[in-house]
Amino acid sequence: MQYFLLFLVTLSSLFGAAKVVAVDERYQDSQSCKACHLRIVKEWDESWHSKSHYQNDEYFRKSLDYVSRKTRKSLNSVKVQCATCHNPRISVTSTDEDYEIAAVMGLDKGSEVDKAVNADSISEGINCVVCHNIDKIHDEYDASKRGINRVEWTKSGTMTGPFRDAKSPYHKTIHHEFMDKNPNKLCFVCHANDRSVNGVIFTNMQDEYVKGSKKCVECHMGEHRQDVAATYKMYDGKVKMRNVRHHGFKGAHTDTMWLHALRLSLKEKKNSLYITIKNPQPHNIPSGFGARELELTLTYKNGTNVIGKKTISLTTHYVRKKGKKTIPHLALKESENVSIAAHEKKVLKVSKMKGASSVEVVLNYVLVNEEVRSLLKLKGKNWSKRHFIAKKSLELK
Ligand code: HEC
Ligand code: HEC
Ligand code: HEC
Ligand code: HEC
Ligand code: HEC
Repeated sequence: MQYFLLFLVTLSSLFGAAKVVAVDERYQDSQSCKACHLRIVKEWDESWHSKSHYQNDEYFRKSLDYVSRKTRKSLNSVKVQCATCHNPRISVTSTDEDYEIAAVMGLDKGSEVDKAVNADSISEGINCVVCHNIDKIHDEYDASKRGINRVEWTKSGTMTGPFRDAKSPYHKTIHHEFMDKNPNKLCFVCHANDRSVNGVIFTNMQDEYVKGSKKCVECHMGEHRQDVAATYKMYDGKVKMRNVRHHGFKGAHTDTMWLHALRLSLKEKKNSLYITIKNPQPHNIPSGFGARELELTLTYKNGTNVIGKKTISLTTHYVRKKGKKTIPHLALKESENVSIAAHEKKVLKVSKMKGASSVEVVLNYVLVNEEVRSLLKLKGKNWSKRHFIAKKSLELK
């Protein structure tokens, strides 16, 4: 019986939707690129792409565990599901009923699925051989097909890159337009159509992005600058200077990225205070993952005395069956979307506090709102940390 189930598990894993190409050990992890691309490996290592594995991101891990518990699906099946975008070089891309039965009976140890989710080769999450082994992006596919299900891989050892004339002693190279002319297409493989198990789409960067704006890489990998792409002396004993970018993919977790990311202005009219938040970026803010939060803190003063404080939270709440609050991934419904659209503004009207002679407004960003932090019992201080965006004061009449 045990062997029969194992056989079924193995067999069913062969019929996954996406075609898996095994990555040769020589290319599997970023260690093997260090000898010639040390700068890039170091930059990437600081990025959140390098933390997208179950072991390395508390928020991801606890969300995944929570989804497994609440949907009564095996942890491994949920890991395979999330790997679509978080761990795309996984060797198994779907699981089925037979696997679920085997998992419930504790007979899946040593199965293809168990080996796949625990493989060392995927422990780096979104690493070099994710982006640089993509050979084809199927934009004609249904919008819900993302990550693994939207791409085809190069043969192991062929690196996709931005240059047409690159030569390397260690690997083959191939040029693709989604590495130079149209890199947004690469980002949208995963940064789009992120949805709950019930089909609620809580992020859709591809739809909200204003076409013709700067490219994602121009802000999240920085402007082009001159440096070597590889330190190996490949060209007549010399290196070549190239247009390169920073592989840190700095974003929501980085303080400096938030400074002035939004513009704040204040106006007084009769008994009200009007707070305007303008978004100059080409996508919504907050965007990306659900449960992100903008927080406004108003401090009213009379002379130098603080006479009152008020906090306004702009965040999305998610509910499951019977209106129970939940995390984005289990949402059946979401509350009104309060994020500020690309190149648009939001005006909030608040009543003035009596006796106040001035008001100071501070705008901060928080990675995870209080509701989701407590549902998941997140411990890391980074999840509740306030990232400063802007501040304004106004003398009141
Ligand atoms: C999330 C996708 C992604 C990941 C992960 C990634 N890269 Fe890149 N890489 C790019 C893009 C996009 C460019 C092109 C940047 C440009 O010039 O516009 C690039 C460019 C490069 C280049 C050309 C020189 C340069 O800096 O622009 C090299 C070499 C390179 N990457 C190596 C690596 C290595 C080694 C790793 C792993 C440590 C890695 N990349 C991880 C997306 C990625
Ligand atoms: C022995 C040295 C060496 C090692 C090891 C090495 N590379 Fe390279 N790589 C090069 C050289 C040389 C180039 C060409 C640089 C240039 O043309 O400016 C290059 C170019 C690239 C490019 C750009 C290709 C293009 O067409 O634009 C990518 C992407 C890349 N390497 C990824 C990797 C990854 C990922 C690893 C690790 C798995 C790796 N390399 C390991 C030497 C190496
Ligand atoms: C294979 C899927 C995939 C691709 C391709 C991809 N990303 Fe990501 N990206 C992710 C995931 C998953 C995360 C979240 C990782 C985490 O926080 O654990 C992420 C996180 C980020 C972040 C947030 C970092 C932070 O500090 O909050 C930025 C910015 C980002 N990616 C930019 C890009 C850009 C630009 C491209 C295109 C060049 C790109 N990504 C391509 C999947 C992808
Ligand atoms: C003009 C610069 C600019 C461009 C272009 C841009 N972004 Fe952003 N993005 C920002 C800023 C500023 C923020 C807010 C600070 C931060 O998170 O980096 C941000 C935030 C993000 C976040 C985190 C959002 C959150 O609330 O969790 C992700 C993910 C992201 N961008 C991905 C992308 C992708 C993918 C593209 C291309 C479609 C893109 N960005 C294009 C400037 C830009
Ligand atoms: C369609 C591709 C895709 C799938 C499938 C996916 N994610 Fe993500 N996920 C992303 C991207 C892209 C980001 C980065 C967005 C950002 O930083 O704002 C992300 C970010 C996250 C974050 C925030 C991490 C952080 O450090 O702030 C959590 C938590 C998360 N995902 C959980 C999950 C879970 C759990 C699953 C499986 C049930 C899953 N994701 C499946 C694309 C995906």
